Amino acid sequence: MNVAVFVSGRGSNLQAIVNSPGLKNHVQVKAVISDKADCRAFQIAKAQAIQTFNVGSKTGFISYDELAYHLEELKIDLIVLAGFLKLIPIKFINYYKGKIINIHPALLPSFGGPGMYGINVHKAVFEASAKVSGATVHFIDDTYDTGKIIMQKCVDITDVSSPEEIAERVLQVEHQILPLVIQKFAEGKINIVDNRVIIN
Ligand code: GAR
Repeated sequence: MNVAVFVSGRGSNLQAIVNSPGLKNHVQVKAVISDKADCRAFQIAKAQAIQTFNVGSKTGFISYDELAYHLEELKIDLIVLAGFLKLIPIKFINYYKGKIINIHPALLPSFGGPGMYGINVHKAVFEASAKVSGATVHFIDDTYDTGKIIMQKCVDITDVSSPEEIAERVLQVEHQILPLVIQKFAEGKINIVDNRVIIN
């Protein structure tokens, strides 16, 4: 299975995908796409000789139509948003419907929506005094964080003393469930039955 990973920054989830033993034999990351010119995730991609693309309206960046053309050429089967923070045009999403997934650093449907990304999410969780948080992998639809949930994993945050501490704990489970979901996709084990996502 060929995968394209969208990133905006650090790229630790990209690194987890690239390092995952469960993906080594049957999943290839063929492209890494970013809305930022010089993100750390691009260094990870380049170290692995993975093709990179900048997408968006900035000078020198390609459009989503051009990107779709390149991804078609690379025979991409699955698009993974791993810390990509921009809303993707609906035309592109519809083109890859059912084949775009996202990792969110909280337990959706709570703590999602516009502005809820990165440390903002963990601040909101901390301020709510929540006792559990976690990570969610879900399908992408045309609004923020509302697509059907594929996999979630909780972490206990009863004893944390900062949003940063929540972020650290959640990131660890992100690195577990995102590669696992990709593996299940590659094995054809993710299906929608009666409007629910079932993993076999
Ligand atoms: C991750 O925590 C990811 O869940 C979050 O951005 C971080 C990217 O880290 N994504 C969102 O907040 C999307 N709403 P990474 O670049 O190290 O993978």
